[in-house]
Formats: sequence, structure tokens, C-alpha cells
Amino acid sequence: MTAVSGITPSGHLTLGNYLGALRRFAEPTDEPGFYFVADMHAMTTRHDPRRLAVLTRETALLLLAAGLPEESVFIQSAVPAHAQPAYLLECTAYVGELSRMVQYKEKGRGKPMTRASLFTYPCLMAADILLYGADRVPVGGDQDQHVELARDLAIRFNHTYGQTFVVPELQRATTAGRVRDLLTPTAKMSKSDPDEAAGVLRMLDSPDVLRRKVMRAVTDSDATVRHDEGAKPGVTNLLEILGACTGIPPVEVAARYTSYGDLKKDTADGVVALLEPVQARYAELAADPDSVDKLLAAGRDRATAFAKPQLDAAMRAIGLMS
Ligand code: TYM
Repeated sequence: MTAVSGITPSGHLTLGNYLGALRRFAEPTDEPGFYFVADMHAMTTRHDPRRLAVLTRETALLLLAAGLPEESVFIQSAVPAHAQPAYLLECTAYVGELSRMVQYKEKGRGKPMTRASLFTYPCLMAADILLYGADRVPVGGDQDQHVELARDLAIRFNHTYGQTFVVPELQRATTAGRVRDLLTPTAKMSKSDPDEAAGVLRMLDSPDVLRRKVMRAVTDSDATVRHDEGAKPGVTNLLEILGACTGIPPVEVAARYTSYGDLKKDTADGVVALLEPVQARYAELAADPDSVDKLLAAGRDRATAFAKPQLDAAMRAIGLMS
């Protein structure tokens, strides 16, 4: 089994990214893993090149600080092999299916100045996955459509040109697969919200800031602690977060509380305790940029070597290499 996943550096990473993705990448396993900063995915809408470079570095450090095997971490654009199968998959995908992708529908369709990459980037994401022969794609609850497309493209490519790609399986988080915004608990907590958004817990927020944000989370006026996503999205989100921090199923967490104040306080403590070691490791790495450069170069070289046979096989199958 091989696992692949990426994080787009489109903002400062959130608790949602940690619970839905990073923490799971760090789970011990014997299988090879490839975890990258998807910097090429952060250019599908207007972007600031300097901010992209800063966020790419920060995200790479956070992947390392989260305890992933060091050799598994790299930056996507440092491995040019990602772009090559992306084009082959653009030659496999249909305009119809790309038009149905949610990001394009919501942010780009019908606008002449939409970047072409907002339309085609799902092919790049499919390439990211198929390039490593991944059979497992650990992601949070918002990536289903993308992984589904990667599966469809792998199946179509294999059917048309002969068996080439492994058809990957999506692997969802069991708890906190979709952490909600603390102030708008019907929406997901998103790193691309403005930096100052008070409903977004950032992985590098100080303990004080994390506590303050949790204590101000929106709940409801019903005052009973119960896990009920439809009727009580704010309380349910806190229960999911505390459950993910403590390893206790959220429904059981609910049974332990009678007041929102106590639930918030323990959730704040849980989040701070969860993130503090990652923040400490981040500070160590940030203080040693040469070591980080070496780790990322090693990750890049390993990924490049691993991807080569798969890329060659795809090039041969489609008629670009003999
Ligand atoms: P991105 O950068 O939006 O999110 C990175 C990972 O974090 C998860 N996630 C969440 N999980 C729980 N609650 C949330 N509120 C939350 N927000 C985000 C996401 O599900 C994801 O696992 N296109 C991808 C990046 C990508 C990729 C790939 C992923 C590029 N190539 C190949 C997997 C395989 C993205 O923008 O994720």
C-alpha cells in the first residue's frame, strides 16, 4: 500500500487541516508515504507570489513538525514529474466532468477572466495521486469529488491504453473529518478565510488566541449538550473537536457535560494540548533552516525516483515514448 496526500498553501493551516489530514499522515505505518505542499494548486485564482513562497515554507515546516516521516515530505513544484502526467490526464478528462467540479462551478464558471488552471487543476490533483501508484488517499471530508475524478481518470486511461495506473481509494477521517468554522458552524473551517477570521483556529495560533476563539464559539440557546449536527451544529462541532483531541467518541463526550461553558473550556484545553508539541517542534525547525532545506531536498529526490517508472509507463502507454 502507498499513501499520497497534499496540502495547498492557500492560507495558514487550521485545526481542520491538522485533524483531517496532517495528524493522520503521521500515524505509524510500514507503507511508503508521499506528503507534499501542493504549491502549484495555490495559483488557480489571483495570488501574491511572495505570500505563496512564505506559506509554502510554513506548510512544509508544519508537515515536518506534525511528526510525518521526514523523508516523505516535499514540495510539489520541486518534482516536475507532477506536471507531466497532469497533461496526459487533461488528454483523458472530458470538459463535461471538469465543468461539474464544485470549485470551478462556484468560483469560475461563466467568468471570462477565470484562470484556465481553475478548470484543469483536478487533472493535476489526479496526477499527484496516480504518479505514485497510490492506493490510499487520506483526506478530510471535502475532497471526495477530486479523488473520485482521479479514480475515473485512472480507470479510463487503463481502459483506453492498457493497465497503467493503480485505482486509488479515498480514506476518510473517522472523527473530525470536517471541522466547522466556530462562528459559522454550518461552513467548514477554511485556511483561505482572511487571516483575522475569528472562527478559524490556526495551527500556529498562540494558546491565548486559541482559547479566546474557542470560548467565543457560537452555540445555541437550547442549553443541552447533545451531538446533533442538524439542530446543534455549533455544539456538535465542539464535541467533534474535543472527541478528536481526547480520542473519546463525540457522543460519549456529550454525556459528560451539562454546560456549554465547561465544554468550551475543556475543548480549548484539548486544542492547546494537542497543538503545543507541534508548535514547539515548528519553532525548532524554523530556527534551523539548513536542516529543513536538506530534508526537503531528500524528500524531493526520493519522490522523483519513486515517480519515474510510473511516469515512463504512462508516457509509453499513451504513445509518447517507445
Ligand atoms: P486543502 O489544502 O484544502 O486541504 C488539505 C487537507 O486538509 C483537509 N481539510 C479538512 N479536514 C477536516 N476539516 C476541515 N475543516 C478541513 N479543511 C481541510 C482536506 O480534506 C485535505 O485532506 N486539492 C487539495 C490538495 C491536494 C491533494 C492532492 C490532496 C493536491 N493534490 C493529492 C490529496 C491528494 C486541497 O486543496 O486540500
